[in-house]
Amino acid sequence: MKNNELHQRRLQATPRGIGVMCGFYAEKAENATLWDVEGNEVIDFAAGIAVLNTGHRHPKVMAAVEKQLQAFTHTAYQIVPYESYVSLAERINERVPVDGPAKTAFFSTGAEAVENAVKIARAYTKRPGVITFGGGFHGRTFMTMALTGKVAPYKIGFGPFPGSIYHAQYPNALHGVSTDDALKSLERIFKADIAPDQVAAILLEPVQGEGGFNVAPADFMNALRKLCDNHGILLIVDEVQSGFARTGKLFASEYYDVKPDLITMAKSLAGGLPLSAVAGRAEVMDAPAPGGLGGTYAGNPLAVAAAHAVLDVIDEENLCERANHLGKHLVEVLTQAKAQCPYIADVRAQGSMVAAEFNDPSTGAPSPEFTKQVQDKALAAGVLLLSCGVYGNVIRFLYPLTIPEVQFRKALDIIHQSLTR
Ligand SMILES: Cc1ncc(COP(=O)(O)O)c(C=O)c1O
Repeated sequence: MKNNELHQRRLQATPRGIGVMCGFYAEKAENATLWDVEGNEVIDFAAGIAVLNTGHRHPKVMAAVEKQLQAFTHTAYQIVPYESYVSLAERINERVPVDGPAKTAFFSTGAEAVENAVKIARAYTKRPGVITFGGGFHGRTFMTMALTGKVAPYKIGFGPFPGSIYHAQYPNALHGVSTDDALKSLERIFKADIAPDQVAAILLEPVQGEGGFNVAPADFMNALRKLCDNHGILLIVDEVQSGFARTGKLFASEYYDVKPDLITMAKSLAGGLPLSAVAGRAEVMDAPAPGGLGGTYAGNPLAVAAAHAVLDVIDEENLCERANHLGKHLVEVLTQAKAQCPYIADVRAQGSMVAAEFNDPSTGAPSPEFTKQVQDKALAAGVLLLSCGVYGNVIRFLYPLTIPEVQFRKALDIIHQSLTR
């Protein structure tokens, strides 16, 4: 089967709304390497959009899933429960950075986790409003589209959206938005749109993913926590992309002095199997009545088994440390490249959540064109890169944290050449 032939079949069989980035089709994958149906090999710096912090098919993850396959694959947890779900919740409760005792509920996708976090926050506060941020991405369901702070391509043609959702500014020094500006935009929402005592939650990504790997400044997080406490608002952090060792800590929230009330997680939680979760303060998590939360596949046993193995691997292979080590090297390479590549407007990182932002040096305007050129050059040389950012002018680097050192160095050389030649 050839890539071109599959491409023609895809165009006939599947809708254009499911946009596909690559023109080649996967055949197999191992750790940081992906092979297509024609035998071509790429180093995978996309990792299924931040899902594979533990790499493709980690042997421990495979073994855990195979063992579970031999036992049972589905009972629907709400009908017949199983120990692995409870023990995974216990493990996450121990590590999740919230105040006091925690509880965790499992779902399947990131969007589902965010939807449920909003349900829980509304049930707890008995308030309707949710404030999110420009540039944020929270999913493709109706509530999460409404929460998302980026119109194209996610919201086009799909309205009307659920109400009582307002977007504040996310701080972004490069784009001229200070912490103060962002806090003022919240004040404006409280004056113009909704009283603070009607707001259930402020929801943000501690490091914006799709929005361009923008890191929330510590003073902003402190101010948000204070604002939430003053008005009885819950603070929800969406760690779907930033979680599970990517930033050098299990959760990016651990970099801050403040603690959120609820945390959403998914992606790298289960190393390639569909699993998501909402974890949070037990009192808040218990607000919805029995039967209010769940889903047929929520907390699927195969995915739960994979997540147990992922947590083991993160600890055994020191993946938080490794995230910092690899991220540091990549930042060095990008910073060196900056001297020869005037398009690089910014290099930013938290651990291995590394991004480079590209502007046209003659106009200072975002350059999605140059970004695409870099992606194309890197791919031609064997490295698969993903873009992001509100203007599509950021490249994010999402290699598995288990990538072998030699392969990582090779990829860095290719990235350097793609930026400078
Ligand atoms: C921060 C964040 N939240 C939510 C989602 C939605 O996750 P899913 O695509 O699994 O529904 C994503 C996906 O990229 C994300 O990055």
